[in-house]
Amino acid sequence: MTTDKIPLLEMREITKRFPGILANDHINFSVYAGEIHSLLGENGAGKSTLMNILYGLVAPDSGKVFVRGKEVRIHSPLDAIDKGIGMVHQHFMLVDRLSVVENVVIGTKPPGYPAFRKEAAVKRISQLIEEYGFDIDALMPVHLLSVGQQQRVEIIKALYRGADLLILDEPTAVLTPPEVVDLFRLLRNLRQAGHGIIFISHKLNETLENSDQITVIRQGKVVNTVLPQNIDRAGLASLMVGRDVLFDLPHPPYSGKQHAVLNIQNLKVLDDRKIEAVKDISIEVCNGEVFGIAGVDGNGQSELVEALTGLRQGTGGKIMLGGVEITGKSPGEILAQGVAHIPEDRQVRGLVMGFRVDENLILHDYGRPPFTRRGLLQHKEIYRWARQRAQDFDIRPPEPRLQARQLSGGNQQKVVLARELTKNPRLIIAVPPTRGLDVGATEYVHRALLDARANGAAVLLVSTELEEVLSLSDTVAVMYEGRIVGTMQRDEIDITRIGLLMGGGHVD
Ligand SMILES: Nc1ncnc2c1ncn2[C@@H]1O[C@H](COP(=O)(O)OP(=O)(O)OP(=O)(O)O)[C@@H](O)[C@H]1O
Ligand SMILES: [Mg+2]
Repeated sequence: MTTDKIPLLEMREITKRFPGILANDHINFSVYAGEIHSLLGENGAGKSTLMNILYGLVAPDSGKVFVRGKEVRIHSPLDAIDKGIGMVHQHFMLVDRLSVVENVVIGTKPPGYPAFRKEAAVKRISQLIEEYGFDIDALMPVHLLSVGQQQRVEIIKALYRGADLLILDEPTAVLTPPEVVDLFRLLRNLRQAGHGIIFISHKLNETLENSDQITVIRQGKVVNTVLPQNIDRAGLASLMVGRDVLFDLPHPPYSGKQHAVLNIQNLKVLDDRKIEAVKDISIEVCNGEVFGIAGVDGNGQSELVEALTGLRQGTGGKIMLGGVEITGKSPGEILAQGVAHIPEDRQVRGLVMGFRVDENLILHDYGRPPFTRRGLLQHKEIYRWARQRAQDFDIRPPEPRLQARQLSGGNQQKVVLARELTKNPRLIIAVPPTRGLDVGATEYVHRALLDARANGAAVLLVSTELEEVLSLSDTVAVMYEGRIVGTMQRDEIDITRIGLLMGGGHVD
């Protein structure tokens, strides 16, 4: 990273204002060939906006972009691709039924006679796969690939179009731990070959371990660019948030089992393919207890939670809430029983993206006083209430009239939390409750869950982040292939044993 070299990318004095917010404030940012440069910042700091400007999805108000020292104008993703800039989106844009090769060549015109094109494309793509170690079958239909492999198809797409600068906006949020390892191996190969990589993540450890440089953004401004060897996790967190962050909250001892709030008996649930995803699970979660379920994604956790929240019918067993059977009840009926659900995919299940923040906050309660009186919606009251929630949960900007889709990812998650936790639930079902949240917001959510526990709520926490499960739970259960394969109390937690169980190993 010698500074006398011309950077692959230079963004100079980039400024972008959205109504009521300065998302990018005179940002200067450079990336060199052969480096992994991380962008770090709180939810809403302006990272995605900067990347969307670079990829031609958002027009800046002012500022300039240079590629290899030459000023460029990027008005669309096509312009960006033409300048060698590729972006891997968090929501993949792949056609399920088509093969890897077909997905990669879609929208491009390989040279030569049509009859030879497919052959040429297969050859070129196989070369890329081989050269960088993508470890994927070029002829496989993409719906048969894992999430990690589909993400690799998106990367191949960008490389095939000639990208030498790659933007990855929170690529690891959707990956399992082994897939994360594979991704970084791949990114190092790309770096070795001279590509520049812009990497965004809220996970400070992986950022520290895999970056050549880290640029921290706070409230639209660059705070600093640092070398990972000169800083640690706590230092990064305080640069981002502007205060110290607690990674491990005090965890007062569990008062001991009192009464079961949630009691699951011999539950069996099928997945979409009619295969038994939950196989005879029995669990008890008591008041004042955080019951954590650890496990690699795809071992039946989603189906379990869907059955508990009424989104999916079980094929056997019983679910009891406070001693009353709720098996087979509708989601509305279950939520009305004092169950809070912080879902896996906030954009699908948690929020209505086209609704305003205040509407999302009263989604399940709008028909009741004080929000409705004599059949009329009380707009003033709703606004006042929403504004208070926005303040309590630090939703930024605290403007309840914005649409949910206008908030940054982390702030959308805070809206879900604000709605679900303020109803004083007796049972909280939290499925990776901190996905996409920054360190400060994560601390906040963890605090909120522990507070709810202290107030007597039962918390069922399902997370693939082992660190999160371990730091919050009173009881940890490991789920593997639809079964609970091990359960331990907080004082008997053994990380090696949990790791083994998560991978399907047997432990005596
Ligand atoms: N289309 C839009 N209209 C209005 N405001 C927007 C729009 N897109 C982004 N913003 C605002 O710009 C600010 C920066 O958002 P951005 O998505 O860039 O944050 P981020 O750093 O990527 O956050 P996160 O870590 O949560 O993804 C936020 O306050 C957001 O609400
Ligand atoms: Mg973002």
